Amino acid sequence: VGRELVCLDQVDSTNNEIKRRAVGEVPDGLTVVAGEQTGGRGRRGRSFVSPPGKGLYLSALLKPDCPLGEVPALTAWSAVAVCDAIEALCGVRPGIKWPNDVILEGRKLCGILTELELEAETAALRYVVVGIGVNISQTEADFGPEVAPVAISLAQALGRAPRRAEVARALLDSLDRLYAGFPQQREGWLARYRADCLTVGKPVRVLSGAGEREGTALGVEEDFSLRVAWKDGGEEVLSSGEVSVRGL
Ligand code: BTN
Repeated sequence: VGRELVCLDQVDSTNNEIKRRAVGEVPDGLTVVAGEQTGGRGRRGRSFVSPPGKGLYLSALLKPDCPLGEVPALTAWSAVAVCDAIEALCGVRPGIKWPNDVILEGRKLCGILTELELEAETAALRYVVVGIGVNISQTEADFGPEVAPVAISLAQALGRAPRRAEVARALLDSLDRLYAGFPQQREGWLARYRADCLTVGKPVRVLSGAGEREGTALGVEEDFSLRVAWKDGGEEVLSSGEVSVRGL
């Protein structure tokens, strides 16, 4: 991952840039890093605030050799890989808010947006884009009043900010380890995800098409879905695409 590395000062979204470059035979591991995103995208149609020089905005194109059903696990693995990189570089291990927000001091340090591109005719996987945004030196003002209460940068948490290139290097190293073991090392990564996941054992409020419900997170299943015990009775297994979990 990252042996073919494109560094841009500014781009709309590094995920979009990967897709624009993925024509014809796409290079496995192609990585795009940008200093600024003018249209950074988050999950569930949200935007991802990406001010110039303050964060690491990185996307990697991967072509895993596995059944399509295993591909979504890459997002959860990536959250563990981000935790590895931050721990290696900064000496603190963040946690994971299910499904894939990386959390320090109860606030979001990093978000991950994975997008699958399928062959039009066969619906086979063409490639996956794993887009990772790490907050490095943002201040409260950089985040803005809406995001600041729920976001944190490495500078805010540690009182010092590593250089963007150092964070990129550490992250590419841990993405490399992830990719080398994908999907064969699934048991090990699942165990590490479970150990990092902060959501388990906590009360959660779950938003879905059916409205909002309260419960307690019981655990993470083999496929990284979340088992919840509802306050008003019964259990359900939630998959990340369908719901939004509040609380922590
Ligand atoms: C989320 O928290 O909802 C996901 C945020 C993902 C942000 C990263 S930054 C690099 C890549 N490019 C994007 O437009 N989004 C991802």
